Amino acid sequence: MKGIILAGGKGTRLYPMTRAVSKQLLPIYDKPLIYYPLSVLMLADIHEVLIISTPEDTPVYQRLLGTGEELGMRFAYKVQDKPRGLADAFILGEDFIGGDDVCLILGDNVFYGQQLTDTLRRARARKGCATIFGYPVKDAREFGVVEFDETGKVLSIEEKPAVPKTNYAVPGLYFYDNRVVEIAKNVKPSARGEIEITSVNNAYLEMGALHVELLGRGMAWLDTGSPEGMLKAAEYVEAVQSRQGFYISCIEEIAWRRKFITTAQLKALGERMKMTEYGQYLLSLAQEDQK
Ligand code: DAU
Repeated sequence: MKGIILAGGKGTRLYPMTRAVSKQLLPIYDKPLIYYPLSVLMLADIHEVLIISTPEDTPVYQRLLGTGEELGMRFAYKVQDKPRGLADAFILGEDFIGGDDVCLILGDNVFYGQQLTDTLRRARARKGCATIFGYPVKDAREFGVVEFDETGKVLSIEEKPAVPKTNYAVPGLYFYDNRVVEIAKNVKPSARGEIEITSVNNAYLEMGALHVELLGRGMAWLDTGSPEGMLKAAEYVEAVQSRQGFYISCIEEIAWRRKFITTAQLKALGERMKMTEYGQYLLSLAQEDQK
């Protein structure tokens, strides 16, 4: 399975913070926002990831993440010249996806919680269909919204409805079979002029091939769409990290625990950042292992 991170867009809702810097490069506490969605793909055991961003920002992502080799990953990059909509990821990603299944995650989505890895593995293992997620929120009007019956069968999915049928928002994490590429090519732009991911999901719904997995109370899906959301997300990460001593979405740690890289490689990554707590954390993991 291949992974795609969509990290473009204009970030206008965060101006002036994002006038000169891509939103997904801004920090959430101690690491760039894009580390969080990247860590989700790594937990899903995806090794090949395409990062899509704007013409100005793509080189910056390349500088930050490189080829992926240091993490035992393979990163590819693609420019999106205009924010045409989320479904554009599959059109831009056609060659990269090839004949594989694919997981798309939005570059500004932060997930953390118990059973995340199990949930990802289950979604990945489901073949010949699409899997989306449902997450209860107080106000679902800003999101894709999913309606389902008592057996979990999806009844409808709507993009930013004025009157949501349920309070289950659809987070920016989607698993698809290979048909998604052709489906995306046939999506018509919505009233806001974008080729919507919700239209792709509706195509799967019509084919009877759309699954929804509900994410429970133990899972955090944090909002980074406003300065307040970013501050709260940063406070959440800081609170968990300082209390438990375990880092959230530390891509080097995941690479090492998953054996994408050796302890010696982890140590080298830590050495490079040893002046920060983050670097010290990597070194402490490497040292633990060598005891
Ligand atoms: O976060 C979950 C929501 O994301 C879903 O519930 C909605 O169904 C889905 O449409 C999407 O809604 P948003 O309005 O939040 O999407 P937004 O336009 O803000 O874009 C999400 C991310 O994708 C953001 O980091 C920018 C990036 N992006 C967006 C577009 C439209 C691109 O890289 N390229 C694009 O063309």
